[in-house]
Amino acid sequence: MKFRLTPKIKDIIARDRKVIMTTTRGEVPFVASHGRGDFVYDVSGNRFIDFSSFISVYNFGVNGTKEAAAAISSQAAKLMHPAFTDYYAEQPVAFAENLLTMFPKGFGKVFFSNSGTEANEAAIKYSKLFTKRQYTIAFYNSFHGRTIGSLSLTSSKIAQRERFGPFNSVVHAPYAYCYRCPLGKEYPSCGIACADYLKKYPLAKEVSPKEVSAIFIEPVQGEGGYVVPPREFVKEVRKIATDNGMLLVSDEVQAGYMRAGKFLAMDNFGVEADIYTLAKAAGGGLPIGITVARNSLGNVPEGAHSNTFGGNLVSVAAADTTLRYIKKNMRSLEAQIKEKNRIIMDRLNRMKDEYEIVGDVRGLGLMIGVEFVKDKKSKAPAVKERDAVVLESFNNGLLMLPCGESVIRIIPPITISRSSLEEGLDILEAAIRKSCGK
Ligand SMILES: Cc1ncc(COP(=O)(O)O)c(C=O)c1O
Repeated sequence: MKFRLTPKIKDIIARDRKVIMTTTRGEVPFVASHGRGDFVYDVSGNRFIDFSSFISVYNFGVNGTKEAAAAISSQAAKLMHPAFTDYYAEQPVAFAENLLTMFPKGFGKVFFSNSGTEANEAAIKYSKLFTKRQYTIAFYNSFHGRTIGSLSLTSSKIAQRERFGPFNSVVHAPYAYCYRCPLGKEYPSCGIACADYLKKYPLAKEVSPKEVSAIFIEPVQGEGGYVVPPREFVKEVRKIATDNGMLLVSDEVQAGYMRAGKFLAMDNFGVEADIYTLAKAAGGGLPIGITVARNSLGNVPEGAHSNTFGGNLVSVAAADTTLRYIKKNMRSLEAQIKEKNRIIMDRLNRMKDEYEIVGDVRGLGLMIGVEFVKDKKSKAPAVKERDAVVLESFNNGLLMLPCGESVIRIIPPITISRSSLEEGLDILEAAIRKSCGK
């Protein structure tokens, strides 16, 4: 369906620009109205296939599952806010118990907040409390959020950091971004030199390993460009943490909740972290942040960390229903992810062979990125071309989001139908062909 830019759309965007402070929007004039399943509609009736899951939130279809919508209405009619951090309520406890069944043995403590950045703030503070150490390690190209603690970890774009320093005590290290190796090497002959670098430089010349509380890692980097590291890299990072008494924190805010093929993205690497953070898809469309820690780390002293809205009963109703949906449909979801990953990767790899601007195609599960380059030899980032592909696809009824410097994310709902998936890929390919002047 061709997009029609109507006076109504123009009016809302003009009013938005007057009163809304700032966002991260690009050029796509999408003004939301309603949606269900594979599709979302704007205020003028333009229909779009969703390849964005609205920033990896609608992992099980636009507007979440029907069960979650029903649970939200029913809970909203009873009680919304139970002041869970000051009083008690059963629903958040039952949800925490249910959630812990998805974690490795020994995980037993859950903290609720409202967003990914807050889930990471809690993880930063807990790591400091549990280890009595001050520093944190994070990776270049990472995104952990925008509040000052998690922004101190974030290192994917200067625009996100400039003017906001000084930051907390974080030391950054290279991530295994093999398509653009920060050390100029090639995998696998590199011998995972980036993990070695962490030991040889940051931990030998900048910060004492004895002062590092935790290493924060995204098992698959999200905002930084959908970068999938080799398994050995993640294993080596785990080993460095263990050898030095540091915690490993897996930021699963984007990659978790089945997006990268498993409930916990870290499970793809055969590694267990000590603290996990979740948000986005967990609330099925409502805000929730979740921090989960190993029992053996101990308890956070009373009053050391808390909030107002954590454990909100409506968010918890949505989250618990979403989790029940996942558990009930686990086999089918895993099979769908495998099959749809194959369809997307086959198609994108063929595009890579055919079009000079498609430099790299990579992903795990249904967390797939396409990196655009001026040409395959120079690998110069094709930012304008990437933006043009996103806009042209939008004009033809496909919603997608950029990430990294010149990457497009392909993150449809896991439940997308095969026909919508193929129609979306046709729209994407036509946009790429146009961008190549073919
Ligand atoms: C990996 C990761 N961590 C943390 C965040 C921050 O989450 P929020 O925007 O809910 O604060 C994001 C958001 O994109 C993310 O992708």
